[in-house]
Amino acid sequence: MSMYSVIMNNIKMTLNPKDVIISIDRPKILLLKKHIDYLAKYGTDQDDYEYNMTEYLRMSGIYWSLTAMELMGASDRMPKDDIISFISTCQNKESGGISACFPHDPHILYTLSAIQVLTMYNRLDAIDVEGVVKFVASLQQPDGSFYGDIWGEQDTRFTFCAVMCLSLLHRLDAINVDKAVEFVLSCMNFDGGFGSKPGSESHAGLIYCCVGTLSICKRLDALKVDALAWWLCERQLPSGGLNGRPEKLPDLCYSWWVISSLKILNKMRWVDKERLEQFIMACQDPDTGGFSDRPGDITDPFHTLFGVAGLSLLGNNKIKPVNPVYCMPQETIDRLKLKPQML
Ligand code: FPP
Ligand code: ZN
Repeated sequence: MSMYSVIMNNIKMTLNPKDVIISIDRPKILLLKKHIDYLAKYGTDQDDYEYNMTEYLRMSGIYWSLTAMELMGASDRMPKDDIISFISTCQNKESGGISACFPHDPHILYTLSAIQVLTMYNRLDAIDVEGVVKFVASLQQPDGSFYGDIWGEQDTRFTFCAVMCLSLLHRLDAINVDKAVEFVLSCMNFDGGFGSKPGSESHAGLIYCCVGTLSICKRLDALKVDALAWWLCERQLPSGGLNGRPEKLPDLCYSWWVISSLKILNKMRWVDKERLEQFIMACQDPDTGGFSDRPGDITDPFHTLFGVAGLSLLGNNKIKPVNPVYCMPQETIDRLKLKPQML
């Protein structure tokens, strides 16, 4: 660690006491087999309390688990046929949209997760693809933004879901891409970051969504790259973890939202990779397997994906390369011949 970063850490610790201390006994190496066993078992016990309480996000749960398993080279441990037929039952015949779990209402978040899963399995034939295209296109508003569903909440997350989903289907022609970009740019703040709608404060998760959208639409030229990358690298705390906004605790999922954005901007060298890797390793549970938001908390598939994907971006050679825009294996993105813009 350089003298500069020691001084910067001390200043940050004084100004922002919101951080965690990583105790000496936390894991320091990747517990790959533990994580594979954890995800293989998760969801197999259908009477489990947690499994039933998370029904409203089942589709995304499958995406998080399958992607992490693919990256760890263990997707054969997932019940492929059951997953594909489950997804078929979640597509709404009228709107074409896909829900988290039948009989919930379709939503763009779960529609994207379903398309990501079917793309990884190369099984888009299991659903009505034209129905999905029609559903996504129907959610675009005159200002270029997207609603998440018919109920009309507007958020840059939904723009990213729409654009990513249609690009995976090679059907971006179904929406007004220029208008979608115009809306995203109207959410840019003075600090170079983005929020959920025009005038909302910058937030690392939404920055990932906006940078990802601009990457897929090949409009990274519109970014204030240095200001944005500076804001992003300032999210790193002395523990090595990253937060999503100033004054917040570090959270493992922000390792993904922040460093995937920095990777797209070609500025990953602006974070201390070694300390970030230590933080991610410390979020593993050596008993149960899986990763948690912070060292010592309960693990879940969401943080497990972002732990594995974050380590992939940091170059861990036990994990397959991940695409920083799609958060899917690079080999899948290559197979589809997709080339999101990178600086
Ligand atoms: C933080 O959420 C994260 C975000 C706002 C980004 C979510 C991104 C998507 C849904 C797009 C699809 C994602 C992938 C990986 C393909 P939070 O509600 O936890 O925020 P908080 O930390 O402020 O509570
Ligand atoms: Zn989190």
